[in-house]
Amino acid sequence: MSPFLVTRTLPEDATSAALRADVLHGLTGNPKTLPPKWFYDARGSELFERITELTEYYPTRAEREILIDRAAGIAAATGARTLVELGSGSSEKTRHLIDAFPGLKVYVPVDVSESALTQAGQALVAERPGLAVHALIADFTARLELPDTPGPRLVAFLGGTIGNLLPAERAEFLASVRALLSPGDALLLGTDLVKDEGVLVRAYDDAAGVTAAFNRNVLSVVNRELGADFEPDAFDHVALWDAEREWIEMRLRSRDAQTVKIPALDLAVEFAAGEELRTEVSAKFRQDGVRGELAAAGLELTHWWTDGGGRFALSLSVVP
Ligand code: SAH
Ligand code: TRP
Repeated sequence: MSPFLVTRTLPEDATSAALRADVLHGLTGNPKTLPPKWFYDARGSELFERITELTEYYPTRAEREILIDRAAGIAAATGARTLVELGSGSSEKTRHLIDAFPGLKVYVPVDVSESALTQAGQALVAERPGLAVHALIADFTARLELPDTPGPRLVAFLGGTIGNLLPAERAEFLASVRALLSPGDALLLGTDLVKDEGVLVRAYDDAAGVTAAFNRNVLSVVNRELGADFEPDAFDHVALWDAEREWIEMRLRSRDAQTVKIPALDLAVEFAAGEELRTEVSAKFRQDGVRGELAAAGLELTHWWTDGGGRFALSLSVVP
């Protein structure tokens, strides 16, 4: 079996220090917010996998369709020997890419979810003899240090996860990805596209309530890590389309007036009846916008592929 290495670039306690800082900042601000990376503990990663199987949640199926159709073309265009994937999760769709790259030597999945990384990594090395897997437990919004592996390098960022960053964070993130690339390397980016409002809202507010459970899970993370006494069921899941900013916004709405104690921060947070906490945005894109954001980061878009329904896009860009 090929090697499976795991490197943690976050010290064990950096997670809780960062969570503390984010929760303090987010829950004392107006409006209240929480950043999305805290959704993904083991239960959050499992719930997300269930979201990808929902009828209403089309992005995973649409992106998989493009990957299946285009993997050979992506392999030919990049000739990558190292595939780095940011926010890799279960790496399930990535298998289509991995199998299409004749010269691929190393796969470097990067995620904050240790449980998702180890499960995916162990399965991959067992199934793909000859592929080394070097997983990084790391925050892709912090400065990344990649292992020294053979080039050319393809960095993949799938699932539309880039839409979970705010515009200024996106610009900073893309510039940091650009800094990881040498001439001959490439970025493969998955972006969900602007479309009918009803289709978008249903993808983030499914009938079975899986997305609602996923959204509320962030409160359970704060309870467990910081000793807070959130009652997740005292909050309603809200998903709405912001037509001006072209993003879906996920919120948790406090059903009644309530006070939540967070002992680790020595904090009591008041919620008015109906007050909303923003937990996530999921921006939707157009080709010109993607090209422009890439160009602003010093990357040149060379390919743009969509699924048959025109719902989702994969783009390939290079260092000019
Ligand atoms: N790429 C997979 C999973 C997408 S869900 C797919 O397309 O289905 C988003 C993934 O990004 C989750 O696995 C989550 O744990 C990870 N993630 C979110 N914020 C992160 C961050 N700041 N740093 C590293 N990983 C992050
Ligand atoms: N990257 C995914 C997306 O924007 C994450 C996601 C899907 C998500 N459903 C969610 C995040 C519900 C929060 C709540 O589509």
